Amino acid sequence: MTSLIQSYSRRTMLSLVAGMTAGLVMPARAASPSMLDVYKDPNCGCCAGWVAHLRHHGFAARVTDTADMTEIKARLDVPAALASCHTARLDGYVIEGHVPAHALQRLLSEKPTALGLAVPGMPIGSPGMEGGKPEIYDVILFSKDGQSPFGRYLADRPA
Ligand code: CU
Ligand code: CU
Repeated sequence: MTSLIQSYSRRTMLSLVAGMTAGLVMPARAASPSMLDVYKDPNCGCCAGWVAHLRHHGFAARVTDTADMTEIKARLDVPAALASCHTARLDGYVIEGHVPAHALQRLLSEKPTALGLAVPGMPIGSPGMEGGKPEIYDVILFSKDGQSPFGRYLADRPA
């Protein structure tokens, strides 16, 4: 009986390992679609906190430190009124500021026609901005010619 269980769990282990190996091989092909490319100032602490939040929620992130965030935001067409600290790219979208993982997951499943998502400024309590009394903030969907509300959040959850 014991050996039966052992051989069963051994097989389970083997298939788990096989699955993991397949998972390791896949990113070579799938890396670009769901990989976050993050640009941030090397001295930005809240930016690092945001990246940690996203990794915690299963996103892969590649971080590039740059002192010239203004140039990055201009190049990626981030509207000046929506600017925050860091800027990222995800699956063809531009992600500006402390956008919670929940909103990014919605973006990837709904795939709206837009340039990207932004959380302007740095709202207290948004992912990476923890520590104070959390405030309600809006996630904005923006395109070349307009902006619309995408979701209202408190901390990292819909408000
Ligand atoms: Cu910040
Ligand atoms: Cu930041």
